[in-house]
Amino acid sequence: MDNKTSKSSIETVMKETRVFSPPTEFTSQALIKDSKSYQELWEESQKNPEKFWQKEAESLHWFEKWHTTHEWKEPFSRWFLGGKINVAYNCLDRHLPTQKDKLAYIWEGEDGSVRTLTFQQLYEEVSQLANALENKLGLKPGDTAAIYMPLVPEAIIAMLACARIGVAHSIVFAGFSSLSLKDRVLDADCKIIFTADLGYRRGQTLDLKKIVREAVAECPSVQTTLILRRDPTTQLSKNEIDWNTFVADQSRTHKAQPFDSEHPLFYLYTSGTTGKPKGIVHSSGGYLLGVATTAKWIFDLKDQDIYWCTADIGWITGHSYVVYGLLANGATSLIYEGAPMHPQAGRIWEIIDKHKVTILYTAPTAIRAFMRAGDEYVIKHSLKSLRLLGSVGEPINPEAWMWYHQIVGKGKCPIVDTWWQTETGSILISPIPGVTPLKPGSATRPFPGIVADIVNEEGKTCAPNEGGYLVIRHPWPSMLRTLHKNPERYKEGYWSRFKGLYFTGDGAHRDEQGYFWIKGRVDDVINVSGHRLGTMEIESALVSHPRVAEAAVVGRPDELKGQSIVAFVTPRDSGEKLDIKILVQELKAHVVNEIGALARPDEIKFTKTLPKTRSGKIMRRLLKDLASGKEISGDTTTLENPGLIEIIES
Ligand code: WT7
Repeated sequence: MDNKTSKSSIETVMKETRVFSPPTEFTSQALIKDSKSYQELWEESQKNPEKFWQKEAESLHWFEKWHTTHEWKEPFSRWFLGGKINVAYNCLDRHLPTQKDKLAYIWEGEDGSVRTLTFQQLYEEVSQLANALENKLGLKPGDTAAIYMPLVPEAIIAMLACARIGVAHSIVFAGFSSLSLKDRVLDADCKIIFTADLGYRRGQTLDLKKIVREAVAECPSVQTTLILRRDPTTQLSKNEIDWNTFVADQSRTHKAQPFDSEHPLFYLYTSGTTGKPKGIVHSSGGYLLGVATTAKWIFDLKDQDIYWCTADIGWITGHSYVVYGLLANGATSLIYEGAPMHPQAGRIWEIIDKHKVTILYTAPTAIRAFMRAGDEYVIKHSLKSLRLLGSVGEPINPEAWMWYHQIVGKGKCPIVDTWWQTETGSILISPIPGVTPLKPGSATRPFPGIVADIVNEEGKTCAPNEGGYLVIRHPWPSMLRTLHKNPERYKEGYWSRFKGLYFTGDGAHRDEQGYFWIKGRVDDVINVSGHRLGTMEIESALVSHPRVAEAAVVGRPDELKGQSIVAFVTPRDSGEKLDIKILVQELKAHVVNEIGALARPDEIKFTKTLPKTRSGKIMRRLLKDLASGKEISGDTTTLENPGLIEIIES
């Protein structure tokens, strides 16, 4: 089938079937007998969310049961007070009596090599590392550790070893620059960094240890760098320890200690509307409950499943749905260190057939890239093992949804379009496969126990089809607890816009059937290929360059990436002649160096001044229009310098 025919058949399907009925084989182990009983359970959970979560919490292992399900001292929420739990115990030890030889992970490298780990093996590796961290480094509950690693099993082993001994981990995606790594390590006072000498992607070798060394040089809190040597000739410097030697003489069993349900499990830095990224703090008991329950229901996990979430562990999707949510359910996951279209555009489909993947969870950006590459790459593989597809990270356009459904899922796999955020910890809005009828482009309805709403400027519930702000009306167990070292910003950022409501930062509407349609951010956060970036963060990076006087960054709609980054820059007059072409290259490289390649501007436009209101605020709406080539729309009468949005030609 060529691109043209598949496109027109997709259009036909879209006209004919807007609503997809759930296939019956999904009425599932999610304990849902049928749509009617699900509807009853859902209604009940809206009236009494605590009751719903409390019942689900029984399925986790607790060393001591909680006495109070939920305590709410706005804006601080605590769950399962008095409960004692160990997250790693729930992910590993609990499964050993029944399934020690089941695979926990199948790892594939870009070169096609494969490694597998059973639950027993994973438990032993985690135990060894946990023992070494306690015995040799004296790490203890309350300490923090940074993880800057490629997607290899050791990254997950490090997470679980930390969780096991009560050390909060802070994972930094191994595509961030040394400066970004440094900022995050300093903010969280990390004592140790887990890393590898090298990472592999798109046929390239990434020198991770170099980035870590640059960062560590300016991080006094870091006492040790633990390096997984993939190249045996890598030389170690001062305070660097070889991973394998470090663990070799340690016992392969470890007794997990109970921690308070509210003990912080990890920090994860994410971009906000102002300044530096913020450290989202997640708890142990509530977080684990959120990810375990949603993974079980939404991915309909069954014993034989081979589940593949393509996210890196550096993002929340990796934390929740590569590691904690899946292991808590004793599921088998595939992880792949490499690019899904390398060395050819059909690599992802080849891997699915090779390992008989049954559930695929990926991002709309990736789906659009596969779609653009052409159907021939997909249809040459059977993909008959697939039974469920997922989407996450940005709104999925109906065309991409249909392509995913028809070409990848052969019309038989439901798609779970899952809406959530780093802050929410787990999925909050999603269909339940086999239960919720699907509409392409809608994340459908809130998960049980999640009270979501769409409100107008005044905080009043919007009428059907009226656009407004997505809010959550009641705290939920896997909600962020605060921002590390910054409770004020936590309050201000999430709980101030609407009294008593959690503000998501997303715009949305709800249709007559109560289906949520999420449009994307309404604040100064942009979403580029499913990665979250703050426009202010990129602006600060730009103005730290000596040739930049002022900068404003906006997102421009992009067919493939969702949004692309456009920067408006006012150059500083240095007396020298300006070579714009060279400066563009220099500024792009500068941003990569300051933040990482994911923040590289797609376009830089130079202007003599930036359009500002009389009160000095940059008129972003106008810049957004300019960036996307639109006529300047709306009211510009408050513009201080209307005639001066003059682009200097490059
Ligand atoms: C923002 C959160 C949550 C995992 C990855 C992103 C957007 C996320 C969807 C979806 C529409 C979505 C929102 C949200 N988003 N999932 N299914 N439909 N938009 O986490 O980096 O914290 O970004 O991603 O705008 O606020 P994140």
